[in-house]
Amino acid sequence: MPSNIPCVCSIIGTGSYMPERVLTNDELSKIVDTNDEWITSRTGIKERRIAAENEATSDMGSEAARRAMESAGVKPEEIDLIIVATVTPDMFFPSTACFVQKKIGAWNAACFDISAACSGFLYGLQTARHYLNSGNRKTALVIGAEKLSTLVNWKDRNTCVLFGDGAGAAIMRTFQDAGENVPGRILANVMGTDARLTDLLKVPGGASAMPVTAENADQRLNTIHMEGRETFKHAVTRMLQASEEALQKAGLTAADVDMVIPHQANHRIITAIADRLGVPPEKTFINVDKYGNTSAATIPVALDEANRSGAIKRGDIVLLVAFGGGFTWASTLLKW
Ligand code: ACO
Repeated sequence: MPSNIPCVCSIIGTGSYMPERVLTNDELSKIVDTNDEWITSRTGIKERRIAAENEATSDMGSEAARRAMESAGVKPEEIDLIIVATVTPDMFFPSTACFVQKKIGAWNAACFDISAACSGFLYGLQTARHYLNSGNRKTALVIGAEKLSTLVNWKDRNTCVLFGDGAGAAIMRTFQDAGENVPGRILANVMGTDARLTDLLKVPGGASAMPVTAENADQRLNTIHMEGRETFKHAVTRMLQASEEALQKAGLTAADVDMVIPHQANHRIITAIADRLGVPPEKTFINVDKYGNTSAATIPVALDEANRSGAIKRGDIVLLVAFGGGFTWASTLLKW
């Protein structure tokens, strides 16, 4: 498709998969010095899902992908691009996207992963959008999938209560010269990074900067380290900024938004953003209580739940907004 022909890039199907095992706050209080009241009041999280030992990130991503393909009416051989956003890949290489290809049989796809922490899925949508709009690819599968239970220090109450496992997926396609009537249309994208803040949220060990040794593994340097308060502050500021920029690009205001689907890290961060944007609670999608923070998976899982439950309907203006380690942030505005 030549790039000078107007085309519309659209999400045509969504899917998600959450592992069966539920880990409640009460169970966590038997592992570390915490309690349901503290976790609920500070984060809004009541429980999270934990993947089985033999369940890899690509297993969860593939199941979410199958459900998204079914909802889009797309066969595996039609997919020519697979992007997986994850910070918990199956292996350093091959990419998790390669394992997804193998599991769903999408043999015509080029496959790669994106590392942008919790903003990864929205970075993936924007990357896929460029491939589709340039005519380079026709049908993209974008997945956000995480097995964060493998990166958590289960002895650190500051972090282990926050995270969970899961996967969500979206199928994207461009429609040439299709005008305004295509559902799931992407209206605007924003993405940004501030790498002066890399130290606030990271997994310091286990890769090339600090290869695993018995000593640093003992010190749990291959697990998530986070400055919670600072992260909180920047998350609110950047998600607000990304939301406003996307609305401005599309010539809309917060009053036009029918549903905000924010990264699900913390109930208080979500309500702070919604309040400052002026979006009421009934227009803010929240499922952090059930799943905790699943990093790149939170937005595609929430988008799929909002789609299947009817919380978003055709024609609604939907704002997706995320923030994550890096720091990275991103937003995508959709007309559903
Ligand atoms: N149970 C009980 N007490 C706890 C727990 C716990 N699980 N965790 C910490 N505490 C204690 C601390 O030790 C501290 O005790 P002290 O005062 O005796 O030292 C006290 O609670 C307060 O700790 P703070 O860290 O100041 O608590 P805060 O109100 O900031 O809440 C939280 C912590 C929930 C982590 C908050 O800072 C937060 O949500 N930050 C943002 C985290 C986030 O969203 N991260 C991800 C974003 S990006 C991404 O998704 C990768």
